[in-house]
Amino acid sequence: MTRHDSDRSKPVLVTGGTGKTGRRLAERLTNAGVPVRIGSRGAAIPFDWENPSTWDAALDGVEAAYVAYYPDLAVPGAAETVEAFSRLAVKMGVTRLVLLSGRGEVGAERAEELFRRSGAEWTILRADWFFQNFSEAFFLDAIRAGELALPVGDVREPFVDADDIADVAFAALTEKGHERKLYTLTGPRLMSFPEMVHEIGAACGRDIRFTRIPVGAFVEGARNEGLDEPLVDLMRELFTEVLDGRNESVADGVEQALGRPPVDFSDYVRRTVATGVWNTAPAADTI
Ligand SMILES: NC(=O)c1ccc[n+]([C@@H]2O[C@H](COP(=O)([O-])OP(=O)(O)OC[C@H]3O[C@@H](n4cnc5c(N)ncnc54)[C@H](OP(=O)(O)O)[C@@H]3O)[C@@H](O)[C@H]2O)c1
Repeated sequence: MTRHDSDRSKPVLVTGGTGKTGRRLAERLTNAGVPVRIGSRGAAIPFDWENPSTWDAALDGVEAAYVAYYPDLAVPGAAETVEAFSRLAVKMGVTRLVLLSGRGEVGAERAEELFRRSGAEWTILRADWFFQNFSEAFFLDAIRAGELALPVGDVREPFVDADDIADVAFAALTEKGHERKLYTLTGPRLMSFPEMVHEIGAACGRDIRFTRIPVGAFVEGARNEGLDEPLVDLMRELFTEVLDGRNESVADGVEQALGRPPVDFSDYVRRTVATGVWNTAPAADTI
């Protein structure tokens, strides 16, 4: 059964529902009159990936779910956690599951494999890095401070807009035709970090630099900022292995799913400059 011919009074569980893609998806579902249950630690019904005893209540009465694991499908144990969660979801009557996955990550591909066996109608969104990392996540403070320093060179990556991911997730949860599909979601353009930082700086009218630093210095900086060891390991893997050029090609997942091209980085930059987020002092609590 698809959502099309099912009971619209049942909620869709949106895990990470206050995060970069989940928040946008929850807005789209709410605007379309679909009841939403946010799945996060701070939600009305608290949901914690690290505490399976919270999963039953979050899944109770739910028909479909968006699965956005935190912090990343590349961390040890993530694939097994997503597998256990999706199997429980199916046991509790969930018929549609949409997984947010990461492109170029070995751990994420293992999670996809296990996820496909859950027994639900599945869709996988294998996404490239999000534009919104520059405005809603770990690059934001550096952009505000005027220098982004990373252990990457001129490798080019087709970053994607979280709004495009939310549009695809919304379609997959509310329309027929996305069952058993894996969409590789990228933006329309390969760009290097120096190019992206330069474009943001030019649009803000500020001098924002990109500096390449050794991996050791990056890791030490992450530790000094208080990141615990599993997150330090994740950062090392993301910036050394995933950004080794393996994703240096655009894919047509957005076009396949939505019948329109993906949003370009320049559009995102224009929209974001208008919010003023890049001109204020560094925040202490970015995700
Ligand atoms: N960022 C990227 O560029 C990128 C690219 C490709 C794929 N991905 C994938 O996207 C997923 C989400 O990553 P993101 O970076 O965009 O983060 P995000 O969704 O912005 O993360 C924040 C959300 O996760 C929730 N959360 C945090 N810890 C949680 C926990 N222990 N249990 C339940 N919910 C928790 C937060 O709510 P509470 O604080 O209330 O719990 C919030 O809703 C990951 O699986 C990652 O692999 C990310």
